[in-house]
Amino acid sequence: MTNFGRRDFLKLTPAAALLLCFSPSQLIAGERTRLSVRGNRATDIEGQWKLTDIEGEIPKDLRGSFYKIGPATKEIFGTKLKHYFDGDGYVSRFAITDEGIELTARFIQTPQRMEEQSSGKMLYDEFGTAAPKRNREGRKNQPNISLFPWGEDLLALSEGGHPAALDPGTLEFRKLTDFNGTLPKNVSFSAHPKVDLKTGEAFGFGIEQGMSKALKVFKLDRETGKCHELYSLSQKHVYMIHDMTMTDDHLIFIIPPVFFKITNIILALGSLAESVKYDPKIGTTLLVLDRKGKAKPIEIKLPPSLVFHHGNAVASGDQLKLQTFLSKDESIMNFISDWEGPVRGEISYPEVHEMVFDLKTKKLLKDETIFSQHDFPVFNQRFTGQDHRYLYMTGMGPAADPFGLHRITKYDLKTRTPLTITVSQGELCGEPFFVEKPNAQFEDDGWLAFTGYDDARDEGFLEIRDAKDLSFVARVWAGIYLPLGFHGTFIKA
Ligand SMILES: [Fe+2]
Repeated sequence: MTNFGRRDFLKLTPAAALLLCFSPSQLIAGERTRLSVRGNRATDIEGQWKLTDIEGEIPKDLRGSFYKIGPATKEIFGTKLKHYFDGDGYVSRFAITDEGIELTARFIQTPQRMEEQSSGKMLYDEFGTAAPKRNREGRKNQPNISLFPWGEDLLALSEGGHPAALDPGTLEFRKLTDFNGTLPKNVSFSAHPKVDLKTGEAFGFGIEQGMSKALKVFKLDRETGKCHELYSLSQKHVYMIHDMTMTDDHLIFIIPPVFFKITNIILALGSLAESVKYDPKIGTTLLVLDRKGKAKPIEIKLPPSLVFHHGNAVASGDQLKLQTFLSKDESIMNFISDWEGPVRGEISYPEVHEMVFDLKTKKLLKDETIFSQHDFPVFNQRFTGQDHRYLYMTGMGPAADPFGLHRITKYDLKTRTPLTITVSQGELCGEPFFVEKPNAQFEDDGWLAFTGYDDARDEGFLEIRDAKDLSFVARVWAGIYLPLGFHGTFIKA
């Protein structure tokens, strides 16, 4: 069992990453919780159900499973969890077949969760909430952020340790995986590995525990199930690096001036989130690596910003273009550290930047803010590393509920115009996933699949939209409350 002791401070690192996702909108201070809090609250519902409450019609050529993951406990044996990223991982699966639609939802029964459940005590620190001192045994490797299909497994990713391998059908926990013995014990694994659908190549990264604080970058081999180290880059701090993007030749990271104060972690002065520091004096760093692991890393300094997610990237000669979602300060981190507390002050929402760099002169040539108040970017993965046209993302806000996700936007990078749909009042929607249609000819020949929450019904749903014009295709009601959660994925049948 992976046990995150207090000396394993670096393991925690990636956890930070968690910072990823966000949700929307409706709050009457002091009286009623925000809509985003209600749509992300705890549940104890687990099971399997046939779903028949369907609006519209599921396309005959859309077959497969949509998965979603997020935290679904908000208290562990008397200790209230404070942070947006706290809570045991919970996965749902909408399986779409010729026979109908079946929903499976359950907690991920990691050894640490099982140990707490059987002892009746909170033993492990969550990302933002420390366990009671009398019980405290270390930090939980909490797979509640994202999902990654890998071989016969569906990997649930935490950023705080090794991936949890699940049965993609039943969602049962199988084991913590180290990629057939190739991911070192003291290296965590990112929540955002990436796949180039053109070539099938996959890449991931992690942070090494120990004084090197190294960023480890891996190529993932589907044939052998192993990961091969491309780079091991020592860092001055244990930085919070959540996402990566890539071109046909490069792996790209943007490292924000956000890191963990190691002394606090070693001395176990509090939760991991309480040891996070944002230091704008350090600035942000663009790091460009070679997909073959051969070329020397390129670093370009940028103004300070908080960053979680990126769009696509493309290189032409020495020029590199990418989209990334930057916030101008750490206000989001502060807000989510007391997730159910009042909204204090202004939140700096992520802004969508398109940046162009000259990799030879190491200069930023262009930085254009093209859109704002959105996150969770997705695109047609077949265009990974290509000069693509469309970016899909999820809208945040309003001010009274900064994480109230309630809009889906298709942004046209060519015409610089957004097309936005908004779910009904009292509803939330999560990150969309782009599912390419069979025999697709154009980049946007696909569907967007996303889950949502309806407050009036206190019920979750899966919605399908046409990626061409965001028109409604179908909604499948879950019949139960489903926490909105963070990231999702779709596996075609
Ligand atoms: Fe994320």
